[in-house]
Amino acid sequence: MISGKSSLCISAEEVKTLLREGEICITVVGLGRIGLPTAASFANAGAKVYGVDINESVVGTINSGENRFVDEPGLEDMLRKVVKEGKLHATLRAEPVISKSDFLILSVPTPVLPSKTPDYSAIRTVSHQVGEYMKSGTTVIVESTVGPGTVENLIAPILEAESGMKVDADFGLASAPERSDPGNIMKNLTSVPRVVGASNSRTRDIVAALYEATFGVEVVKVSSPRTANAVKLTENLFRDVNIALANEFALLYEKLGIDVIEVIKACSTKYNFMPHYPGAGVGGPCLPANPYYLIEEALKVGDIPYLIRMAREINDRMPEHIVELTMEALNEVAKTVRGSKIGVLGISYKPNVKDVQLSPIVSICSRLQEMGAILKIYDPLFPAERAAGFDVLDSVEKAVSNSDCILFGVAHEKFKHLDLGYLRSLSGNRSAVVDACHLIDPQEAMKLGFAYRGVGRPRSRNLEVF
Ligand SMILES: NC(=O)c1ccc[n+]([C@@H]2O[C@H](COP(=O)([O-])OP(=O)(O)OC[C@H]3O[C@@H](n4cnc5c(N)ncnc54)[C@H](O)[C@@H]3O)[C@@H](O)[C@H]2O)c1
Repeated sequence: MISGKSSLCISAEEVKTLLREGEICITVVGLGRIGLPTAASFANAGAKVYGVDINESVVGTINSGENRFVDEPGLEDMLRKVVKEGKLHATLRAEPVISKSDFLILSVPTPVLPSKTPDYSAIRTVSHQVGEYMKSGTTVIVESTVGPGTVENLIAPILEAESGMKVDADFGLASAPERSDPGNIMKNLTSVPRVVGASNSRTRDIVAALYEATFGVEVVKVSSPRTANAVKLTENLFRDVNIALANEFALLYEKLGIDVIEVIKACSTKYNFMPHYPGAGVGGPCLPANPYYLIEEALKVGDIPYLIRMAREINDRMPEHIVELTMEALNEVAKTVRGSKIGVLGISYKPNVKDVQLSPIVSICSRLQEMGAILKIYDPLFPAERAAGFDVLDSVEKAVSNSDCILFGVAHEKFKHLDLGYLRSLSGNRSAVVDACHLIDPQEAMKLGFAYRGVGRPRSRNLEVF
């Protein structure tokens, strides 16, 4: 720990100097997609950093300087450097490192349960652990995404009960929710302003100084952890609701014979329109889960957030819609899903990210397989690997050759340059194409002789009305 001082009584200016001089010790609990880049960045800025994780292979990989997030540019070099310099060390044993840390950063998962309620079991477990071992003068910073009030009403009481200390008087407590986008984490960490709320203004200023000095970003100081978590959820729910609105337009315009992409592009020419696009649904660890943290808090105070709930329902319904489009497209070439070979391009939950958590394409594949389709999946991020229980092939050609239908699932950069004519030459006679990510030109697909369906696009037979 900082010699002779606690993180509670140093000034914001001192934090910056002490960080540069290697006098600050930080433990990051949870070394995943968020925790690992965070730990590496603090170490790179000068801190002595310990990382705690329950997964033995995660700890072993980090200590050998290996980066398991190959889709995060910039992480590999930084990780290798800080591990080699002895600035970052990962461990399974929390107790010895928690007790010598000035700042404890919690970055464990907060998923949702099948009941659509938040699963705070990991954050509860680490709060007990941290409370048991932390010393007086430590500051605990919650980076995990949680509902507003969770830091004050769940985490703080556990920390106080386990430590026998009092928040503010004996230890600091803050929220600094992570706002980065997978695939761009290192870039976002040093460019997206950080939102910080704490139990008192002094702790908030110290934590703000730590993040400013480490990441070189603006820090937006808000009045409490509760507010910081509300900011995080508001921005993600804004996105979920707007995507649901785009999906609703897509479902309607398909029936009206209007191209939703043409509409959105034209709308985007107006000064106050913010384009959001329809697709196969919403996946990943954040957007499909975060609304339920706020819904839970809303229900506690007797509020029913209708729009937020409805947005979730619409987005969750999209994979089934893509399955329906696939059935229709196959029917148009006198085939059924049962027995058809379907070449699926992309299985991750979003473009250019090696992650299948809550991927809508996984739901689509499961449903098509249940219906008797023969799936041939290719994703450049999982070549010749298993992903979400499916075998992934190692080339587009293997997925598409002799297929009855090509399903564009994810708009990976590599798929943007595919020649549709070439795919047509590989696929079987009388084949169909379904575009769940508005990657291909409907007119071109039709001209090539595909039976075409695209989310939010007119049916192929309606495309030539004029
Ligand atoms: N991934 C994202 O895009 C993203 C973006 C912003 C915020 N967040 C939030 O950040 C938090 C962390 O998410 P993530 O994506 O890094 O998760 P992750 O699943 O990639 O990693 C979590 C890590 O925590 C470890 N862990 C689990 N329980 C633990 C425990 N009791 N003690 C120690 N380690 C434990 C796991 O082994 C894993 O290595 C979540 O609250 C998430 O909602 C994630």
